[in-house]
Amino acid sequence: MDKLKIQGGVQLNGTVQVSGAKNAALPILISAILGGGKSRFERVPALQDIKTTELVLNHLGLASTFENGVMTLDATKIATVDAPYDLVRKMRASVLVLGPLLAREGRAKVSLPGGCAIGARPIDFHLSALEKLGAKITLEGGYVIAEAKRLRGNRVAFEFPSVGATENAMMAATLADGETLLENCAKEPEIVDLAISLRSMGAKIEGEGTEHIRIQGVNSLSGANHRIVGDRIEAGTFLAVALATRGKIRVEGLAPHHLEAVLAKFESSGAKIHRDADAITLESTGRARGTDFQTQPFPGFPTDMQAQFMAAMCLADGPSLITETIFENRFMHVPELTRLGADLTIRGNSVLVRGKEKLIAAPVMATDLRASASLVMGGLCAEGETTVSRIYHLDRGYERMEEKLRSLGAKIDRVKDES
Ligand code: EPZ
Repeated sequence: MDKLKIQGGVQLNGTVQVSGAKNAALPILISAILGGGKSRFERVPALQDIKTTELVLNHLGLASTFENGVMTLDATKIATVDAPYDLVRKMRASVLVLGPLLAREGRAKVSLPGGCAIGARPIDFHLSALEKLGAKITLEGGYVIAEAKRLRGNRVAFEFPSVGATENAMMAATLADGETLLENCAKEPEIVDLAISLRSMGAKIEGEGTEHIRIQGVNSLSGANHRIVGDRIEAGTFLAVALATRGKIRVEGLAPHHLEAVLAKFESSGAKIHRDADAITLESTGRARGTDFQTQPFPGFPTDMQAQFMAAMCLADGPSLITETIFENRFMHVPELTRLGADLTIRGNSVLVRGKEKLIAAPVMATDLRASASLVMGGLCAEGETTVSRIYHLDRGYERMEEKLRSLGAKIDRVKDES
């Protein structure tokens, strides 16, 4: 396993190009199953989760190529509708093959994903949506088996604006017979990007990005041709690095409105934000002010930025009250940040951050993707040498993180973890 060695206390400045969004690429690559031909995707990030997705799709019979950020997928023939446990357990997003396989082949057998570090993350909203579209769902030996001669359009009202459930239902409805109206949908930019990619295949979709999405089913779809949207969470992470190290960083390749709730909190903490059409700059004005926030579905403050913003608040002047409303166990970074000297108190689904003048380097351990980003940020600010172990978590969602940080002036190296 690898770990990162970080010499903290350096102000980071410069420009970063964000990669394609992981959370858009995963459903979009999987949606290639729906197309009867060859799909081509640009700005696909080279991440572990993308590699896993490619393996799942190869297992299902899609031939693939992937070089220089361009992935092609040929779905002319589906070899099997069975997504096995040893692939699904590596990445929960594999459950997104349910809708497309069911819509294309009339059957899907997908291992239940099991929980993960940040919560139980059930898939009941996915399954009830597919049942509403006419699927017969049975659970057998840890597998979900879904069957439907042909899905039928229907009205599906989500109990909660679940990103994954919205994506599964959207993909399934594109080939259903008749019209589907999805209500109380997730509105994340990644949902919008999936709709744009599906439309490039000939799908008839409108309303993406609002709480109502209307889909007219068609008989077949062609291959997709799409460039993945920029990663707003990667962008927010680098802006948080500028806040924490009191520098000035410009992130290029995404629209500011994809991150407005986070930009507003950066401004509340005293930072200057400059917005361009396809870039955002954060310029620190000195020590950040403590800032309260709570995570919400889009357009609220994204849960995927909670750990990173918390890391920046550990050095703020004054307290911050941070509340996590999306996942039930997304404070795994708290004890690790405490090892760096942060003053954090957990009360239920909130954390009180008492900002300190400085953090002190220590060995820390990553537990999940965004927690690992917050620990890297802690290391960048702590005095001395911090090592972050188990950074395979980081590699799931950040492309060449240490290279991008070095280009901003960070003293950071990836080394083999002999322990
Ligand atoms: C997506 O996960 C993202 N992953 C997550 O990013 C992100 O944190 C999350 O959306 C929220 O924005 C991908 O897009 C691959 P949800 P997803 O369904 O779809 C509960 C990262 O760090 N729920 O919106 O799984 C669920 O347990 C990852 O990049 C049910 O109860 O999120 C959670 O508490 C982490 N039943 C809440 O809803 C269901 O059937 C939100 O989940 C589905 C979800």
